[in-house]
Amino acid sequence: MTSQIDTLLDETRRFPPPEQFAAQANATEATYQAAAKDREAFWATEAAQLDWIEPWHTVLEWNLPHAKWFVGGKLNVSSNCLDRHVSGGRADKAAIIWEGEPGDTRTLSYAELSQEVNRCANALRGLGVGKGDRVAIYLPMIPEAAIAMLACARIGAVHSVVFGGFSAESLRDRINDAEAVAVITADGGNRRGQVVPLKKFADKALEDTPSVRHVLVVSRIGEAADTVMQPGRDHWWHEIVDAASTEATPEPMDAEDLLFILYTSGTTGKPKGIVHTTGGYLTQVTTTSKYVFDLKDDDVFWCSADIGWVTGHSYVVYGPLANGATVVMYEGSPDWPDRDRFWALCAKHGVTVFYTAPTAIRTFMKWGPEFPDRHDLSQLRLLGTVGEPINPEAWMWYHQHIGHGRCPIVDTWWQTETGGIMITPLPGVTTTKPGSATVPFPGISAELVDTDGTPIESGGGYLTITDPWPGMLRTIYRDDDRYRETYWSRFPGRYFAGDGAKLDDDGYWWILGRVDDVLNVSGHRIGTMEVESALVDHPAVAEAAVVGKTHDIKGQAVAAFVTLKGDRDGSEDLVKELKQHVTEKIGAIARPEDIIFTADLPKTRSGKIMRRLLRDIAEGRALGDTTTLADPNVVNMLIEKHEAAEG
Ligand code: WTA
Repeated sequence: MTSQIDTLLDETRRFPPPEQFAAQANATEATYQAAAKDREAFWATEAAQLDWIEPWHTVLEWNLPHAKWFVGGKLNVSSNCLDRHVSGGRADKAAIIWEGEPGDTRTLSYAELSQEVNRCANALRGLGVGKGDRVAIYLPMIPEAAIAMLACARIGAVHSVVFGGFSAESLRDRINDAEAVAVITADGGNRRGQVVPLKKFADKALEDTPSVRHVLVVSRIGEAADTVMQPGRDHWWHEIVDAASTEATPEPMDAEDLLFILYTSGTTGKPKGIVHTTGGYLTQVTTTSKYVFDLKDDDVFWCSADIGWVTGHSYVVYGPLANGATVVMYEGSPDWPDRDRFWALCAKHGVTVFYTAPTAIRTFMKWGPEFPDRHDLSQLRLLGTVGEPINPEAWMWYHQHIGHGRCPIVDTWWQTETGGIMITPLPGVTTTKPGSATVPFPGISAELVDTDGTPIESGGGYLTITDPWPGMLRTIYRDDDRYRETYWSRFPGRYFAGDGAKLDDDGYWWILGRVDDVLNVSGHRIGTMEVESALVDHPAVAEAAVVGKTHDIKGQAVAAFVTLKGDRDGSEDLVKELKQHVTEKIGAIARPEDIIFTADLPKTRSGKIMRRLLRDIAEGRALGDTTTLADPNVVNMLIEKHEAAEG
């Protein structure tokens, strides 16, 4: 950890909030003070800004590790994101400004979005989908993705969005784990000028998903997609949704009813279904959107995350829409047709608040400032980052070339499990330091602990959360034991995030990254075990060990050490084949950057693979202690192979 700390930290640079920004910010010092005085009262005051069908009687019931927030309260998330704005004077205001990769655009006002959501809700009800049923959503970044999520919320169905970059097999596993009754997909999506044939992938997944009764298909591509529809099971969106009524009664949901399941990688080969409920989740994403992104009525907010990740759930859909903001959605890639596409979008749609991942910022930095410089970005007033630690160099570049020194940057730490932002500056209030996520959001209690779980005031350690928070995951879907084990057993009584961190002398948090067997590749979580399982699934592979190696754009890249069966030789062709195999099993995000064949893996005498050593080899570093190795020769051979592979 030490070398990482040294390169990440420069505690001397400080950026106090610009005065003009501070004068008008939603957050003030009083926001911190209110929460510090009484956490539960703070969250209750925020929750009370939402529309409740029935009020709650108890703010928090905490039976470690199970929390219930706003107990007894009833509400509907879609009513809060839509109806309340339609009747409250925002009917004609743009809710979603969408742009497709080919350049087609669509703007939906709050009234129009509300009608579309109701139509979709009625279509789903017409297919027999109701409260508590699980619906898998496998869509590109098109307005229908948000519409489908909100329609599920309207009828009380639990959505499980599966990122469109995941393979058929990943989709199938997620459908089956949740026993989804319906799947919403599209004939395809556009990515770098190519069509991603989602329906074809979905069909492959659907060969073995006994719970699915209906598939709703959006026609994004049209005839060119050559879509095969299975009679009785598959329905075109434009046929049944467009024909449905624009009025749909919202299902009154208990504050603790499920809103969604979202699968994320853990330390085993099987992804975890993270369970989020209704009242607390909506409270946290609404509150953080208001204070962290400072959303005002005339803001145009673009969070560039895909709807398939939690960031898309919380800060493309639920948080900003609950605040009545205008959000931007974009279907394609930042380098299509040219490397200035993001900035062209910002200028064209008047984006005021922009939220993206460090990996994207490092890519922009590599491409050079001439691309943003082609466009008028003067409307931008606030920038955000999420997903991985941001190196101070990338922070400074973002600050200078995108924010032109004028925009505060919010570096927001949180996770799929936390539902909403947890550690972040409040723009207008908190002084920032490049590379630090700064301090916990009001009403969030984070503590750094050492290996024994003893709290430490400064230095390096493990990030834990000591008190329940409204947006926290409630459990892992149908696996409460894994929930207890993963998050609450390492440090009894505390939520363990899986991240290492450092606290500086000002009490500022510097997140160092995962300390478990989870990789963070371009801000996407990938379990080493998942990739290993995919590799050993290939007939030629006997054993595989996967580690993350530092990568200057992606943050981390996947490096795989593979031993082959029998006397098979590792060839260039086999490398390609294995990479392709992983892509097919999981998705392109898990594709190994390096595959190194080895006759043996370095193991301790008790048979444990020495991952730290493999990381050192993958990164070409001097090796640490190898005295516990069963066979020291293995390592020398590996180093030679790696050096040869690197050329
Ligand atoms: C990492 C994404 C440093 C962290 C919202 C966490 C970060 C994992 C930051 C969660 C940040 C997220 N600084 N690291 N600002 N934000 N992370 O579940 O390792 O996809 O545990 O949620 O991303 O990833 P997830």
